[in-house]
Amino acid sequence: MAFVGLREAVSPLIAHMSRLTGEAAKVQTINRLDDLRRAVDALKIGGKSIAFVPTMGALHEGHLTLVRQARSRADHVVASIFVNPRQFGPTEDLDAYPRRMAADAALLEAEGVAILWAPTVDQMYPDGYATNISVTGVSDVACGAARPGHFDGVATVVCKLFNQVRPDVALFGQKDWQQLAVIRRMARDLDLTQPPVDNIIGVETVREASGLAMSSRNQYLTEGERGQAAELSAAMRRAIAAIVGGADVGASLEAMKAEILAAGFTSVDYGDLRDAQTLEGLHEWDGREARLLVAARIGAARLIDNMAVG
Ligand code: PAF
Repeated sequence: MAFVGLREAVSPLIAHMSRLTGEAAKVQTINRLDDLRRAVDALKIGGKSIAFVPTMGALHEGHLTLVRQARSRADHVVASIFVNPRQFGPTEDLDAYPRRMAADAALLEAEGVAILWAPTVDQMYPDGYATNISVTGVSDVACGAARPGHFDGVATVVCKLFNQVRPDVALFGQKDWQQLAVIRRMARDLDLTQPPVDNIIGVETVREASGLAMSSRNQYLTEGERGQAAELSAAMRRAIAAIVGGADVGASLEAMKAEILAAGFTSVDYGDLRDAQTLEGLHEWDGREARLLVAARIGAARLIDNMAVG
């Protein structure tokens, strides 16, 4: 215990010295909540700020972009990797979800992350755990309708992660636009201060050269499916151009879905135009900030994407 405490106390100093020498400091991987609390306290000494990047691992360039932005917004970065069982439905890919802790830790270390919080399921949901956070409204449509209970699982684990890490700022990918809306609503409704809702930052989606939005689930795609999957974002761009050009919204969305199916997707869960903040469905576009949100299945993958309209 004493040794862990000492290491945690000196690690911000080592990180600072490593920044001066240009050498990456070692990331501390922590699996127990009491160790995390001590390590976070040590990082905060002298009023230092913390930016937090929650993930489920299988890190890609999208996650690393979040980490880089986090570094520019605070003195220290804490990242988490936790494949959260509560946000997977009974027939979903919880067991198949890619897990590569050692490789992910190395990537985070190279990006200068101070702490990798990697709790076990027992640490997160100990025996007798009984609390659920459910955000109505923004959770009810799109992925919320297609994946019942998913956003309860997300809101619950993110609220716990915020309470555990106590960050000044938290960063999420805009690729999960609805998730970001749910988390912001939850933070506002529960008067969270660590982080305050205005410091919940959405970072632009990182795409492959083909236009395919980066996602840990892209690993489920075969080489051929990867090429077909790129058509999703192309069809979305065409629909947005049509809508902004004054075409009928319903007809543009139907044409987009037909193009997605023609590209080789087996089904389209939804393809909706929605208000960017409230996620209210829009049958007409009146120039407001809106978002085109799509979920579609190809091979073993269910891919989601969204883009700004206008
Ligand atoms: O976006 C994710 O990876 C997850 O939904 C999150 C926010 C880490 C919660 O488990």
